[in-house]
Amino acid sequence: MLKGKKILIGITGGIAAYKIPLLIRLLIKNGAEVQVILSPSAKDFVTPLTLATLSNNPVHSGFFDNETGKWHSHVELGLWADLFVVAPATANSIAKMNLGIADNYLLTVYLSARCPVMIAPAMDLDMFKHSATQKNLTALRARKHIIVEPTSGELASGLCGEGRMEEPDEIFKLITSFFSKKKQFKGKKILISAGPTFEAIDPVRFIGNYSTGRMGIEIAKSFANQGGEVFLVLGPTDLTVDHPMIEVFPVTTADEMFDQCQMQFPSCDIAVMTAAVADFKPKVKANQKIKKTDNDLFLELTPTPDILKSLGQKKRDNQLLVGFALETNNEVENALIKLRSKNLDLIILNSLSDPGAGFRHSTNKVTIIDRHENLKTFPLKSKTEVADDITSAIATL
Ligand code: C5P
Repeated sequence: MLKGKKILIGITGGIAAYKIPLLIRLLIKNGAEVQVILSPSAKDFVTPLTLATLSNNPVHSGFFDNETGKWHSHVELGLWADLFVVAPATANSIAKMNLGIADNYLLTVYLSARCPVMIAPAMDLDMFKHSATQKNLTALRARKHIIVEPTSGELASGLCGEGRMEEPDEIFKLITSFFSKKKQFKGKKILISAGPTFEAIDPVRFIGNYSTGRMGIEIAKSFANQGGEVFLVLGPTDLTVDHPMIEVFPVTTADEMFDQCQMQFPSCDIAVMTAAVADFKPKVKANQKIKKTDNDLFLELTPTPDILKSLGQKKRDNQLLVGFALETNNEVENALIKLRSKNLDLIILNSLSDPGAGFRHSTNKVTIIDRHENLKTFPLKSKTEVADDITSAIATL
């Protein structure tokens, strides 16, 4: 799978360094050539002997080889690599990489490497959350480095939260997909709607739904990772999106989402509407907070525009339109009705009756139905994997 690929691993001084031998073993087993650089403090966490044995190469850590008296060229290593993976990347090394500080061998190699760089942060939750670290990561993302988002869980400090380095098998998957992904959406513009919409009742209350926007964001990332230029019209959500190929247009209401989608659609090649748009909004929004009384309150609702349907009516022959159907009963039948009536090329069906599917889950279970009414049902998968299945199905169209 990775035959002939030259992967340089930079290990900095975090406790997660003990997991890197597993990553190296996976890479070697799959045909990659691996060289390892240790930062000075990384040596306290993992031994050069283990790394040299697993990588079949001497481990680099300083400018001089004490035994031979030879000088190591940082430029050579940087030019040798097809990919430089810094894992674990401590807050300290991330900050230095951002600023271009080169006070150890690993950092000089980073500054002279011409290959793509992947960074797997690992640190305590407060260090990760700190605005200084976040600013540094944003700057590295802007440099087009691939940031392997840390996961949430128990940390070496005993605290629990975000900052734990992604597991070696997940980093391995990202490395393989980095090498295998064709940039099949290069030059394509893609419009995506995601998240819920909030329809105001008064200045403090609204009608909304449980959508987090995660499925749409994952689809946006999948397109972007494959070279697509993505316009993401995003309803209110706590999730953040930071990708050089994704432009985010934050909106709140169905009407705002409608306007933004109408504006972007004509210049797009593909549109994927994943948003859980409110179907009704209060006919009037009260200017002041509605006071509590003992009487019943009647809200008059009026339909919001159906964004997907309106795009289906405008769609040109060279555009593809994809919709979602979240159903609770007669799933396939209802999805087929939507596919036809909204003039779609593909519809993604997810059922609330499937455990782990739909809102507020990091997993989903979908059936993809194309315009010829061919059905393909997928098992329960992470939303990241589902997003890749969906973009692959779109690519085959
Ligand atoms: O007909 P239904 O609302 O179930 O269709 C769901 C699909 O339509 C989703 O793709 C959703 O993003 C889209 N939709 C929309 N505008 C609406 C309602 C739904 O674009 N007002």
